[in-house]
Amino acid sequence: MVQEHIRNFVITAHIDHGKSTLADRMLEITKTVDPRKFHAQYLDTMGLEQERGITIKMQPVTMEHQGKTLNLIDTPGHVDFSYEVSRALAAVEGAVLLVDATQGVQAQTVANLEQAILQDLVIIPVINKIDLPAAEPEKVKAEIASLLDISPDTVLAISAKDGTGVPELLDRIIAEVPPPRGGGADEDFRALIFDSHYDDFRGVIAHVRIVDGGVLGRQKIRFAAADTQTEILEIGTFRPDLTPSKTLGGGAIGYIATGLKETDAVRIGDTILPAKAKSVRPLPGYAEPKPVVYAALFPEDADDYDPLKEALERLMLNDAALTIAPEESHALGRGFRLGFLGTLHLEIVVERISRDAGLSIVVTHPSVALKAVTERGEEVAVLTPRDFPEAPQAVTEPWVKIELLVPPEHLSAVVQVIAETRGTVEQTETVTEGRLKVIATAPLLDVVEDFADQLKSATSGYASFSWFTFDERPGDLVKLKVLVAHEEVEALNKIVPRIRAEREARRMAKRLKEVLPAQLFSVAIQVAIGS
Ligand code: GTP
Repeated sequence: MVQEHIRNFVITAHIDHGKSTLADRMLEITKTVDPRKFHAQYLDTMGLEQERGITIKMQPVTMEHQGKTLNLIDTPGHVDFSYEVSRALAAVEGAVLLVDATQGVQAQTVANLEQAILQDLVIIPVINKIDLPAAEPEKVKAEIASLLDISPDTVLAISAKDGTGVPELLDRIIAEVPPPRGGGADEDFRALIFDSHYDDFRGVIAHVRIVDGGVLGRQKIRFAAADTQTEILEIGTFRPDLTPSKTLGGGAIGYIATGLKETDAVRIGDTILPAKAKSVRPLPGYAEPKPVVYAALFPEDADDYDPLKEALERLMLNDAALTIAPEESHALGRGFRLGFLGTLHLEIVVERISRDAGLSIVVTHPSVALKAVTERGEEVAVLTPRDFPEAPQAVTEPWVKIELLVPPEHLSAVVQVIAETRGTVEQTETVTEGRLKVIATAPLLDVVEDFADQLKSATSGYASFSWFTFDERPGDLVKLKVLVAHEEVEALNKIVPRIRAEREARRMAKRLKEVLPAQLFSVAIQVAIGS
């Protein structure tokens, strides 16, 4: 396909605003999927995504429409998967910014928009769900218009559910998103690896954006950073299933099957070049993700250590935000300490590992990265409760800045929730009519614990938020140690603020009493605070 005829774009939005449903309509209109095989949320290929109704992974798909090749990358909406979004944005030239016409602009709309602007993408603003009686198209168009400093008339109104406006949206994508830039076909090719996965037959499969030149199947290639070489086994495009092709031209989005069985040769963000490239000019790649919460993972059966290691290595090919290090515990044996971008990310990783590899695993309570000064005056990093000194002289914890968008009638509920997180409201300002922006600071520990749930129930889901870490401050934290029949159950230990320690300890003991199987004799359940 000639570069002139390619359009690469993402659909980006706050969670549940309708990205996957819009992608479904585009697949139908462009007849990309056989109607007999079609089902809703077609691009959410993981069973877990279908069950939970959320997108976890970005998913590329190539569609043909009116003589053009449209490469769409559907992205997740939840903040824990924002690393997926940022990598997708770096592989395209345009972004459809989708906003639910019943909900209006939300925190992730703003966060994703800011990232798209940083990448210099052409933005096509769209309001969705106009078929719903509760839709307020004019109001939401005005909100987007003031956010982007454009006329409300340029905001397209669609219903991803019934298809209204979707053909017009495709026309606008073709007209407004520029064809990919990049070098000519005679140059050495450079391909950016934006994602990857493991295939039992074809080994590691790199998902790539061809930046310069063109790739032919069966040629020898080199990975710039990993400095390994191999011969291409197969190249092709996502339709959305892997569909082989003879070449991938400049600007294309597709895959390169490497045949490699070792998972460490292929790194997301690395550049693929011809093995005999005249010069090695790797592409800039991606900023490393910074883990926010940590937890340790152990196989329930010590014999499952190697299968667990292999499953984690394969998962890491498909989850670039996950970090992993070895961990050893007296009680739990050999395992791994994992870093995640949030507690939903943790939950998903644990589910993917237990399902895909069929392994039973023990997971410790999540914790944030702390620093502590031990009894002997040494400074230590605390990534899981195990690292927490018995009686620390001092502890520092990360703090975050939170930006919330909320209708004025829910402001007092938001202030209340922030106060319960040990946080402070710093500033309140009006963004648009009917929407306030609240800037607050709070300890990360409280934000990852259950801030999202508390906010949702206090505001009936009307407040949304995004956050970033900005500071480290002294914290008065203690370790809760769980003992069953006077034996410590290390996996259940937890670090909590001292002010909430007693309440939390009672809650944990009560919950344990409910979940432990009944015994013929009495078993002591204790939660000890500190030593
Ligand atoms: P995440 O990827 O998890 O962030 O969600 P998403 O943005 O992909 O949203 P999804 O397409 O899963 O839609 C969320 C819900 O809104 C689903 O129940 C859809 O059926 C519904 N929905 C999406 N678009 C429309 C629409 O145009 N009209 C109506 N009535 N419902 C819609």
